[in-house]
Amino acid sequence: MKGNVFIYNANIFTPVGSSAKCGAEMGNLLHIPRGVIMVEDGVITFVGDETGYPLRVYNRFTNIDARGKAVIPGFVDSHTHLIFGGYRPEEFGWRLKGESYMSIMQRGGGIQSTVNATRKATPEELADKAQWYIDRMSEMGVTTVEAKTGYGLDTESELKMLRALEILRKRENQKLEIVPTFLGAHAVPSEYKERTEEYVDLIIREMIPLVKDKARFFDIFSEKNVFEIEDSRRLLQAAREAGMKLKLHADEIVTLGGAELAAEMGAVSADHLLHVSDIGIRNMAEKGVVATLLPLTAFALREPYAPARKFIEAGAAVALATDLNPGSCFSGSIPLTIALACIYMGMTVEETITALTLNGAAALDMANETGSIENGKRADLLILDFPEISMLPYYIGMNCVQTVIYKGRVIKGLQ
Ligand code: NIG
Ligand code: FE
Repeated sequence: MKGNVFIYNANIFTPVGSSAKCGAEMGNLLHIPRGVIMVEDGVITFVGDETGYPLRVYNRFTNIDARGKAVIPGFVDSHTHLIFGGYRPEEFGWRLKGESYMSIMQRGGGIQSTVNATRKATPEELADKAQWYIDRMSEMGVTTVEAKTGYGLDTESELKMLRALEILRKRENQKLEIVPTFLGAHAVPSEYKERTEEYVDLIIREMIPLVKDKARFFDIFSEKNVFEIEDSRRLLQAAREAGMKLKLHADEIVTLGGAELAAEMGAVSADHLLHVSDIGIRNMAEKGVVATLLPLTAFALREPYAPARKFIEAGAAVALATDLNPGSCFSGSIPLTIALACIYMGMTVEETITALTLNGAAALDMANETGSIENGKRADLLILDFPEISMLPYYIGMNCVQTVIYKGRVIKGLQ
């Protein structure tokens, strides 16, 4: 179902365009202090100053007086692992005592532990569990979310995760847009221990042909002792040849050259980048690879934050996302993401809005569909509790989203 909405008295802030904003441009938001937004059949058909616009009650429209409220585009969370079986609170406790994320993974915990639980679940169970997270995300203003597989790690279980995503996408009145990513190269599963090459072959020969039309992206955990650069390159080449668009978990734990590989392969985005090299930053900026930064993960792992300012100064496009997953970062908090980006990564509030809207959409190759308040775009809109966007990082970790509109439907709010 798609809706008709008329919003008036709106203090509108939005990036403008249908591609990622790079460098200094990330800070430029269009500001319309007394604006109106017309939405017909789920699509924005007018946005502009209210002077001269007929202000009246429109029949068969949801009429919203946004006096005293800021209006911004819906958030795009372009990196999550929201489908998973089980939980790993014991690992969180071990990390609090000083054990590292990679050492837990190397002794058979970590991703493998979630794989064991996910393999036991049905697609319906996985979908129902994920719906709970989707409902929470929607409350915080997310109108588009990317969701990865990667806890199946055998052909049948990876397909089962994609099936769970399909169930969620097809649910009537789903609250947001779901973009599926295939992450079969998330780890080498225990049955292939010490046989990484054979697992890489399995992905290339068996999985890619089966998933290429079901997932929008191919993603890989390119990391020391997981998929090193040579394996990563082989996998990415095979996925690209099959027509898939590429993403990488790059330079998350150590500096490996993942950012350089993302640029070489023409990936749409490289994500994490806590330990990215200066050359990697330059190459990504030159090749237009979106840098998707995930401050909640750095926070949860007590790692240094990704160098957002260096990316912006190099002229790159930065997106922000949550990385919601049951291991490294069990949080989907958009408000805390905004606060951390401003407090610890030196981003301005305008830059964080661009990073969570238009640039998030660009990281999903959807910047012509959503991510800004403009004619012809999907009507994904947020009305905040406050008149000014400066409240977003200042009200630390708290939700400032009063009304959520997805495809012109009021998902949360007064109406
Ligand atoms: O993005 N680093 C690899 N993948 C996830 C974590 C997955 C997990 O621990 O379950 C990440 O951090
Ligand atoms: Fe991730």
